[in-house]
Amino acid sequence: ARLVVLVSGSGTNLQALLDACADPAYGAEVVAVGADRAGIEGLVRAERAGVPTFVHRLPDHDSREAWDVAIAEAVAAHRPDLVVLAGFMKLVGAAFLERFGGRTVNTHPALSPSFPGMHGPRDALEYGVKVTGCTLFVVDPGVDTGAIVAQTAVPVEPEDDVDSLHERIKTAERAMLVETVGRMAREGFRVEGRRVLLGR
Ligand code: GRF
Repeated sequence: ARLVVLVSGSGTNLQALLDACADPAYGAEVVAVGADRAGIEGLVRAERAGVPTFVHRLPDHDSREAWDVAIAEAVAAHRPDLVVLAGFMKLVGAAFLERFGGRTVNTHPALSPSFPGMHGPRDALEYGVKVTGCTLFVVDPGVDTGAIVAQTAVPVEPEDDVDSLHERIKTAERAMLVETVGRMAREGFRVEGRRVLLGR
């Protein structure tokens, strides 16, 4: 399966996918990496792996819609079977979802529906939960509200700060992403309401 991965930061989730794709038995190939900003480590990771990259910065476009169309067209150029948002810090819009809705997954560092948005680990820590985790879902128009494909629980330790908690979550998140994207790529999947069914 052809994967296009969108990133906004360090790209450790991307790196886990790149490493997994090196094994032909994994059944997927990262054919391009896109970002909403330049100069991030995620793009360096793609370049190191010889994967084509593209960048579309919101300020370079006349409107959010124009940016959304540009991102969708850049993704479409690589003919993805599945789009993976891995630490991508922008909401994709109607134009993007028109083309890739139902075959775009996003990983979120919290147990949805708890703690949606930009600060999952911080919000979980501040709330005082003892267990948080990560969620892989099929992107819908909402903020982290799509149908859930997989989740992993991660304990919060008493001495945690946001960084230590997020790092522990990211360890689980990388494993969840590699395992689940691989199954979706090899076995196929379909979304039925709030359920995502793996296997053809
Ligand atoms: C991940 O935890 C992702 O879920 C969140 O930000 C982090 C990105 O990490 N949105 P990386 O860029 O994959 O290292």
